[in-house]
Amino acid sequence: MKHKLLDYLRCPLCAATLSLASVARYEEAEIMDGELACDSCARMFSIVRGVPRFAMPEKVAADKAATAENFGWQWQHFVQSDELYADQFLGWIAPVRSEFFENKLVLEGGCGKGRHTQLAADWGAREVIGVDLSDAVETAFAATRQLENAHIVQADIYHLPFGRVFDYAFSVGVLHHLPDPQGGFRSLASKVRAGGHLSAWVYGAENNEWITRFVDPLREKFSSRIDRRALLHLSKFPTALVYLATKLVYGPLNRLNGGSRFARHLFYNDYLSSISHFGWQEQHTIVFDHLVAPTSHYIRREDFEAWWRDINAADVTIGWHNKNSWRGFGKI
Ligand SMILES: C[S@@+](CC[C@H](N)C(=O)[O-])C[C@H]1O[C@@H](n2cnc3c(N)ncnc32)[C@H](O)[C@@H]1O
Ligand SMILES: [Zn+2]
Repeated sequence: MKHKLLDYLRCPLCAATLSLASVARYEEAEIMDGELACDSCARMFSIVRGVPRFAMPEKVAADKAATAENFGWQWQHFVQSDELYADQFLGWIAPVRSEFFENKLVLEGGCGKGRHTQLAADWGAREVIGVDLSDAVETAFAATRQLENAHIVQADIYHLPFGRVFDYAFSVGVLHHLPDPQGGFRSLASKVRAGGHLSAWVYGAENNEWITRFVDPLREKFSSRIDRRALLHLSKFPTALVYLATKLVYGPLNRLNGGSRFARHLFYNDYLSSISHFGWQEQHTIVFDHLVAPTSHYIRREDFEAWWRDINAADVTIGWHNKNSWRGFGKI
């Protein structure tokens, strides 16, 4: 943890400032182990292996903890990076472009292995803070610690240890895994200053009936409950199908003269062609990610629109992404 992160941290219980009570170990300028103390209610929070810890997954509600445990495992196993992440990220947060990050104070809700925290830092954010509930913070910290303007915090998105100070907050692929997606969205929005901006990307209900009908029962009753190493191996079978289909059919047909007329009629074409550029490891991550989640909500456009109205956001743009998900951007 870098000293300057202290300027932004607030007690998640009483919102007061925090002080560095003790440091047990430094690695260069990074505080690796130590304690933070609330200046008002005197609660203590640990810094462990470079990450301030505001929520221990074992102390949060069982449904949230199961999600954190599975994703924590996932992001400690799938630690690869891919040069296609930047374009994929911009697709999720459109109309935001990389220049938008310049000089902004940025918050990421549910940073996983930190791939987007890293991009935000590279794109010139003044400071970017990636928050995650799970052990994924270990991977995210390792991936971002060399970046002067990147910080990782372990916390629950419902109890964020910050004031209402951020110029921009975003959350990609997280809210639909929460027990109350809209509550998570509201909590994230509550940390954006007036005039700042917010982006969110969630699974859509529309066009995903085949998942909710056939894949979800399997995910809920089986794949999210079995041993994760077993799922790692079992998920290679559906990944092989996706891999062959995208490499032999979807990719080539969609690249033919900028997309053949036939390709547009293929099942789930927009999404499958969007992942056709990825190699085996990334496609395996995507399939595993879908199967490991204990909770997944599929959100209707009208419900997503209502979330933005509820926080009184202005200039909201909501877009259909790959014809299977919703991305939103608005001003607070
Ligand atoms: C599908 S991953 C997406 C990670 C990242 N946004 C990305 O796109 O690479 C969902 C992430 O949300 C995190 N998460 C789930 N529940 C959370 C909560 N209550 N508070 C904070 N993070 C949470 C998980 O630990 C996981 O890392
Ligand atoms: Zn306090």
